[in-house]
Amino acid sequence: MLIPLIFLSLGQGALSLPQPNAQAAPFQKFQVEPRASSVDWNAPRTDHGGFLAKRSGLHSEEFFNNPPRSILDVEPSSSFQAAALEEESSNSSSSKRATSGRWENLSGTAIGHPCPVSWGGQRMDLYQMGKDKRCQHKSRDSWTATSKWGAWEDMAGSFDAPPAACSRKQDNTHLFGKGTDGQCWHRSYSSGTWGAWQSMGGAVAHYPAACSWGKDHAAVYVSSTDGQCWHRRYDETPKAAGWNSWENIGGYLDGPPKAVTWGQDHTSIVCKGQDGQAWHKPYGISSTSKAWGEWENLGGSLDGPPAACAWNGRMDIFAKGTDGACWHKTLKNTTVTTLPKWGSWENMGGKLKEGTPPDVVAVDGGKKMEVYITGDDSAMFRKVWDSTTDKWTDSWEAMGGSVDSKPTAVTWDNGKVDVFGTGADGSIKRCFT
Ligand SMILES: *[C@@H]1O[C@H](CO)[C@@H](O)[C@H](O)[C@H]1NC(C)=O
Ligand SMILES: *[C@@H]1O[C@H](CO)[C@@H](O)[C@H](O)[C@H]1NC(C)=O
Ligand SMILES: *[C@@H]1O[C@H](CO)[C@@H](O)[C@H](O)[C@H]1NC(C)=O
Repeated sequence: MLIPLIFLSLGQGALSLPQPNAQAAPFQKFQVEPRASSVDWNAPRTDHGGFLAKRSGLHSEEFFNNPPRSILDVEPSSSFQAAALEEESSNSSSSKRATSGRWENLSGTAIGHPCPVSWGGQRMDLYQMGKDKRCQHKSRDSWTATSKWGAWEDMAGSFDAPPAACSRKQDNTHLFGKGTDGQCWHRSYSSGTWGAWQSMGGAVAHYPAACSWGKDHAAVYVSSTDGQCWHRRYDETPKAAGWNSWENIGGYLDGPPKAVTWGQDHTSIVCKGQDGQAWHKPYGISSTSKAWGEWENLGGSLDGPPAACAWNGRMDIFAKGTDGACWHKTLKNTTVTTLPKWGSWENMGGKLKEGTPPDVVAVDGGKKMEVYITGDDSAMFRKVWDSTTDKWTDSWEAMGGSVDSKPTAVTWDNGKVDVFGTGADGSIKRCFT
């Protein structure tokens, strides 16, 4: 049996129990109630800051698909080709969840958080933005005792933010990134073949969000240099299949949006507003509407972008508060005909590392929800919500590990959950099942 690299920090006890009333000195108090915003989020705006304008200094597709190394001001990433550490076969544990202390070093030279995605079954794909600003990819679809992750493969491009990806169906992935020219770039994988990077235009301020509600739909959402949210959607049906043009959905965003869906014809966008509060804009939130609803103020005092998950008409959002704790709010589907209602913000405690928002996944068909945070001691922690008891686990479970980035969790293979983070040396760490 091969010994996994283990980073344990169980003894540090920096983050054991939630402390709802702790007076964390340098932080502002988390404000639970929505507050009046100085701007009207739903008033149409025209200050687009050149989002759709033709600008100079944009990369050509030829450049983007094969950027000369010299222009990128870094040496070739030879280290990311280093073999990944071998780990125990995933069958050696009966657990379906990332397991405390079970960490695998997948090497890499990432800046920022990793981007894992699974199209189902045993397939897992992992993307990173390398220190050379190119995108790199690694995948695995066999988990026998002797199988391994593939090597990191170079996917070219020229980025200054981590990539985002979604999958519409088996053998399909849409990959997006914020180019060093501020445009949104897209590359798709279909039945064994990658297309080239294609410019989607735009003037993007942060990493994009990708979301698919079913096999015929994918969309990318960005926070633009004008502070507004923009999106482009891909629809395979009806006849006019393909990418629609950019649609401005307004707002006053501070940071990247997050997009989630609980099924066909629904997407919810959540973000941190320039007023520090959480905001939400739904598409198709009632069973009869196929249209965007208005921006809704959810209150809060956020430090960083919110995380969200949605299923069966329910949605949960999580954020790092200005007090450093993890906060949570639930949208409950009360009836089919009236709009679902948000609950109050709940303090989940914890002490999140600077610059690392939480991440969340819904598992077991919505029976459970797992929220992951990177603690201020660089270890990862988890809380699990069980819908059969309507309760969170009492305390944050220490997962060990040593990461600098926010956690990124992914469900795969019928309800397994793995969680990833980027170490101080840029290597990608996987806490595995
Ligand atoms: C992870 O693996 C890479 C490549 O083998 C190695 O260079 C790096 O030191 C490892 N990182 C840690 C934290 O062990
Ligand atoms: C591991 O489990 C998968 C199914 O989850 C199975 O297909 C595979 O054969 C197993 N591998 C070993 C070595 O037992
Ligand atoms: C809300 O709940 C009802 C009753 O459980 C269900 O029929 C409906 O599909 C749900 N709405 C959404 C948007 O999931």
